[in-house]
Amino acid sequence: MGSSQKQGLGWMEWLRGWFYVVYEMLFQRIMASHLQNPLPLPPLNDITCIITGSTSGIGLEMAKQLAESGAHVVMAVRNAKSAFELIQKWQNEWSGLGAPLNVEVMELDLLSLKSVVRFAEAWNARSGPLHVLINNAGIFSIGEPQRFSKDGYEEHMQVNHLAPALLSILLFPSLIKGSPSRIVNVNSIMHCVGFVDTEDMNVVLGKRKYASVVGYSSSKLAQVMFSSILHRRLPAEAGINVVCVSPGIVHTNVARDLPRIVQAAYQLIPYFIFTAQEGSRSALFAATDDQVPEYCAALKADEWPVCAYISHECRPMNASEEAHNIETSQKVWEKTLEMIGLPLDAVEKLLEGEQVQCRYGLDGE
Ligand SMILES: NC(=O)c1ccc[n+]([C@@H]2O[C@H](COP(=O)([O-])OP(=O)(O)OC[C@H]3O[C@@H](n4cnc5c(N)ncnc54)[C@H](OP(=O)(O)O)[C@@H]3O)[C@@H](O)[C@H]2O)c1
Repeated sequence: MGSSQKQGLGWMEWLRGWFYVVYEMLFQRIMASHLQNPLPLPPLNDITCIITGSTSGIGLEMAKQLAESGAHVVMAVRNAKSAFELIQKWQNEWSGLGAPLNVEVMELDLLSLKSVVRFAEAWNARSGPLHVLINNAGIFSIGEPQRFSKDGYEEHMQVNHLAPALLSILLFPSLIKGSPSRIVNVNSIMHCVGFVDTEDMNVVLGKRKYASVVGYSSSKLAQVMFSSILHRRLPAEAGINVVCVSPGIVHTNVARDLPRIVQAAYQLIPYFIFTAQEGSRSALFAATDDQVPEYCAALKADEWPVCAYISHECRPMNASEEAHNIETSQKVWEKTLEMIGLPLDAVEKLLEGEQVQCRYGLDGE
């Protein structure tokens, strides 16, 4: 029996969650067979996108394709050297009409909330618009022992949920300037087997036994729940859309911690597993397609409890049953704001054009 099941998810819900994960793995290629690869993108010369974790896997693909479509791309990465090398390579390969790709690098380490604040302050200081924030960077430390960031949070929870949540809110002044704008969260079908206990976000109280799959799936569910409340609190006039996506099961560096034997199996089943280019399609769709704001608006009008969720086949999908639990989502919202050091009315204040102090601000730590 999994510990998520013991500590909150019902048996049926838990089994159903794993069914969705296995189903996605086995049938994603068939379900997504209508999609072209790479996903055709419209001209994007007027938009600026920040993409976290764009030195590898899905994020790398997105950065390259968005830049080749004309977007101003900001690679928000912890390894700047590797990002500069990639840009050099892309520029050399680029055969566009004379103009070089418009890509730049900014440092961001999601394991440090102070780094997130520093990034957001540097970006907002430019006073320019931000049209798309893609919270892509993530970790899945399969089989690794439990680890904590220097901010004191379980690492999956910090990198996959807390830091992106802080980044999204602190970038509001720029997202408002770029409105209509989008926050795209690269989530996972694994949220379906997640359970969030807001009394034990670090999974240390012994109510649940820690395993990397618990850390990962809880962080992804927490992201959907937080995004859903954010979506509900944002008035339509703000013009900021919040979308979660499932990229599919994708062959990237995220599997780097898998045992060698499992990695070998990964190589043997290329038919089932998406390439990074295929895995980038749902997030690129969420970031650029005209239907997405309409979908978000329809959910808002219906007072749907969950934010927009786009599947690996670039279609709206229903998030897990647990993600529909508004009471828990509200608790996740409040707990997250407490953990990232923001006041409960941070969003409303920022929408009013007021300043918001974060506990992890440069003077505050
Ligand atoms: N691959 C899949 O099957 C799959 C399925 C569902 C969801 N996803 C999600 O897709 C997203 C992208 O993952 P991927 O599969 O493309 O994996 P990946 O190849 O490992 O890429 C992850 C990226 O995140 C960056 N990153 C990790 N920790 C960071 C930190 N502390 N600060 C800043 N950046 C950090 C990595 O930077 P470095 O290069 O410096 O390590 C890398 O660029 C993740 O959110 C993942 O959960 C993946």
